[in-house]
Amino acid sequence: MATTETRGAIRIEDVVKIYDPDGAAVMAVDHCSLDIAAGEICMIVGPSGCGKTTLLNAIAGFHEITSGRITLDGEVLCSTDRPKSRPGSDRVVVFQNGALFPWKTNLDNVAFGPIMQGKLSKAEAREKALSMMADAGLNGVEHNYPGEVSSGVRRRIEIVRALMNDPKVLLLDEPYRALDSLTKSVMHEALLEIYYRNKVTIFFITHDLEEAIFLGHKVAIMTSRPCKPKKVLTVDIPHPRDYGVLTSKRFRELIEETNEAVHEEAVKAFQSGEKEG
Ligand SMILES: Nc1ncnc2c1ncn2[C@@H]1O[C@H](COP(=O)(O)OP(=O)(O)OP(=O)(O)O)[C@@H](O)[C@H]1O
Ligand SMILES: [Mg+2]
Repeated sequence: MATTETRGAIRIEDVVKIYDPDGAAVMAVDHCSLDIAAGEICMIVGPSGCGKTTLLNAIAGFHEITSGRITLDGEVLCSTDRPKSRPGSDRVVVFQNGALFPWKTNLDNVAFGPIMQGKLSKAEAREKALSMMADAGLNGVEHNYPGEVSSGVRRRIEIVRALMNDPKVLLLDEPYRALDSLTKSVMHEALLEIYYRNKVTIFFITHDLEEAIFLGHKVAIMTSRPCKPKKVLTVDIPHPRDYGVLTSKRFRELIEETNEAVHEEAVKAFQSGEKEG
């Protein structure tokens, strides 16, 4: 466990989500239960189209669930009585394609949220943003624009920006999917650095099993659609971790232990015609 603070514990209880486009029911999540402790990094791995983003969107409050319950620190986010939670500053989402304002400097992008919400003055927000960017190794790019820095740096800026409001939960939907493997490896260590300073609960979706085991305290391997955990792996490699972990015996063993489950579900998804998203 990463922290003793009881903030950011997510409990997903028996959640079902059925979409109903034009009356054709699509079950995306099927009686899914998963507990994520406060301050835990929980990685979600599953085949394309299995329902991972659907689950993340339900936690974020972007859409309702059909049945079941999701709580955050014991407070109901959504349930059968109240199928949709309100998006709130306690949960923050970083999307695959990012969303920095290209006309604002990186610093102004990071400082933007708390200023817009009236939580901090412009000077306070800029001071906090500068300090968080420095902690995240982003010195020197503060006054550049997003278009002037690499995609890896932009990803880090997005994550720092997401943390400016001190959320309890960081929801990440394949944030590194488009990055090359070398940049990815740097990003993993950078994310852990940021995490060690800001012990938020992390719900992180990926297709990449190595990424999942390297970063996670826990890895939930989801079934093909409709999704629910097929196997939940506790990664018994202590944090703080660095890239040396990748060549360790235990890391390779954990990959071997889980690879088959991931592959099996990918084959099922392929056979049922789910396409790469
Ligand atoms: N708004 C919607 N209306 C109808 N069906 C939807 C909607 N959003 C998603 N779906 C369907 O629900 C299923 C799960 O989609 P979801 O995006 O959650 O999968 P995913 O696991 O995130 O996939 P990927 O790995 O490709 O991102 C898919 O069959 C998808 O087509
Ligand atoms: Mg998705």
